[in-house]
Order: sequence, then structure tokens, then C-alpha cells
Amino acid sequence: MPGDFLPAFFILNPNRYFWKKYKMSSFIDFGIAQKQYNRMNRITQLFGTKYPIIQGGMIWHSGWRLASAVSNNGGLGLIGSASMYPDILRENIRKCKTATDKPFGVNVALLYPNLEEIINIILEEGVKIVFTSAGNPKTYTETLKKEGIKVAHVVSSVKFAIKCQEAGVDAVVAEGFEAGGHNGRDETTTLCLIPNVRKHIDIPLIAAGGIGLGSQMRAAMTLGADGVQIGSRFAATVEASSHENFKNKIVELKEGDTQLTLKELAPVRLVKNKFFHDLENLYETGRNIEALKETLGRARAKRGMFEGDLVEGELEIGQVSALIDEILPVEKVFENLIKEFNEAKVDLSL
Ligand SMILES: Cc1cc2nc3c(=O)[nH]c(=O)nc-3n(C[C@H](O)[C@H](O)[C@H](O)COP(=O)(O)O)c2cc1C
Repeated sequence: MPGDFLPAFFILNPNRYFWKKYKMSSFIDFGIAQKQYNRMNRITQLFGTKYPIIQGGMIWHSGWRLASAVSNNGGLGLIGSASMYPDILRENIRKCKTATDKPFGVNVALLYPNLEEIINIILEEGVKIVFTSAGNPKTYTETLKKEGIKVAHVVSSVKFAIKCQEAGVDAVVAEGFEAGGHNGRDETTTLCLIPNVRKHIDIPLIAAGGIGLGSQMRAAMTLGADGVQIGSRFAATVEASSHENFKNKIVELKEGDTQLTLKELAPVRLVKNKFFHDLENLYETGRNIEALKETLGRARAKRGMFEGDLVEGELEIGQVSALIDEILPVEKVFENLIKEFNEAKVDLSL
């Protein structure tokens, strides 16, 4: 049983629960444990989920099938709108509504086109949760919140986490340099980012980047996160809409097989395939942005992750891929995460 997630008798008598469970020897210990528990509750309470686990929006991966499977298993599934034409997004939202009666949301990456149209569809379809990313948190937070939508925004630095809080978001996702997909330029790791962001903001904090095991989830929460956002682990699931070639590639990847590149345009962590090396070769002949843009061309991400071209396509995935050995159904990913999370309680008192 996922014993760490809000057992009913804890709600009735929290003090007794912690006293018995952790055999706390001082009020100080007790205070820390209770504070951490309350923080964890903030994500499940905010989004109405069973677990504080969010499946990050992912281009070419997170359609209604993945999002609804995550929500049905107790997490928060997010439809990734960035790879969808507006009418495809509408269709995905409608299908998700029929596939789950649990909360789900939409990720809107603010650097992609058709933003107005995407936001209108979200409002028209009555979506209740939106995660924005890759842009200014002020752009849509007020509009969305006026309609009663819960808003979270993804950042990679303390500076932008503070901006999110000022913009009035309900939660911040702080994403470390290990993460798959687009990333910050500063290369701040999750281990350093989370406690620093925690120090500077009070609102619910979700850790992302390098989390694929329950032990990593527990570590992120020990650092001060209230919950976690996971991308790469969910990319290698049966329900992800990406090509089988790419899913099989994720399983094969070893330590050092991905790298952050394209810092001049939009930094992104990629598999080191031919396409990646073509980009890197351009660096040797000088950092010419036009040449980079030309090599990047159009639809490289679709070609790699959706059409399965492992040579010429852009393959986005995180460092945690080195720990992913199997393509699994979402249900099994949840079973593993919760089991590992509960087993990772190690008494390391010094
Ligand atoms: C293939 C892939 C595509 C992604 N696409 C998006 C996206 O469209 N919008 C976004 O906000 N984040 C995107 N991300 C980031 C994820 O939502 C998530 O924050 C990240 O994967 C967490 O790190 P992890 O990969 O180490 O789990 C993507 C990540 C991956 C692996």
C-alpha cells in the first residue's frame, strides 16, 4: 500500500501517526517530518490527484492515451500541445475526457505558434489545469486563473521561480539540467536547483529532471519539492505516442549518450546520433546561428521521435534514460515508483 500518501487515520490524528510511525525523539524532528508531509499534500490537494506525480507534457509523446493512463493510475497526466495543430489538440482533450474521469491538464510551451488558438481551445473545452513553459509566466496566468484554471509554470532557475510566484501561478516546476527536452542555459542540476528554489518561494514546488525511480522522487522531496514531474520515464511506456524505434532506443541508452546542445537557439538535451554530431560539427567551424538553423531545418523532432528516424531525426531524452531498461505500461511505472519510494526510507542519521 502506498503508505506515505495520506492515509485516512493520519487526517484524523496526524500527531499520533507521525509519533508512532517515525518514533520521533524530539519536537524538532517531528516538526520537519510534519512539514514535509504537509508540503506533499499541497500537490495532491491542488490538483485532486492520489499521488504528487505529474507526467510532463512531451512533444510527440503525450497525447490523450498517455495522459489518461497517468491520470487513471493516480498521477496528473498532461497532454503536450506543442506538437499538435489546434484541431488535433481539441480532439485529444475530448478523447482524454472520455478515457478518464480523473483530473488531467494541458502543457502549453509558449515558444510554439498558434498560442491564442490553443488557449481558446483550452477555455472552450473546460480544461481545469494548465502547465505553461518556455516563456514568461505572466503571459497567460491571469487569463487562465480568471477562468478558475490551476496554473503551473516550468523554470530552470531561482530568478524565474520568483517571477512565477509574482505572476500568481499555483505551482512552480523547477527543472534541472538532467532533463529531456528544452532546458536552461545555466546547466543547474536538480540537486542544486530544488533546495535553492525552495529557499526563495513559498508556493508548491514540483521537481523535474532526472527522476525516473521512486528513490529519486524521495530524494527530490527531501530537498524540498512537494511533488515531481517526470518526462523520460513516461516516454518509454506502451501508451506514449512516439515511434517504437525511439522507445527501443531509450532503453538502449547508456550514461553519457545524451548532451545539451543548441544553446544559441533553444538549449535542448539530445541523443548523440548523426543529427546531433552534424550540429556539433558546425560548432567546430564557428558558432554560426544561421548554419545551425539550416541544419536544424523543420520537423526534425517529428522525424526522429514520431517517425522513428534514429539517424537524421532530433531525439530528445533525459540523462535518466541510462536507468530505463524496459518499455513498460504506465500502470507498472506507477507500481514501481511507489514501491521504490516507500523502500527508499533509509535511516541515515549521523
Ligand atoms: C521527448 C520529450 C519532449 C518534451 N517536450 C516538452 C514540451 O513539449 N513542453 C514542456 O514543457 N516540456 C517538455 N519536455 C520536458 C518534460 O515535460 C519534463 O519536464 C522533463 O522530461 C523532466 O525531466 P526527465 O526527462 O529527466 O524526466 C519534454 C521532455 C522529453 C523527454
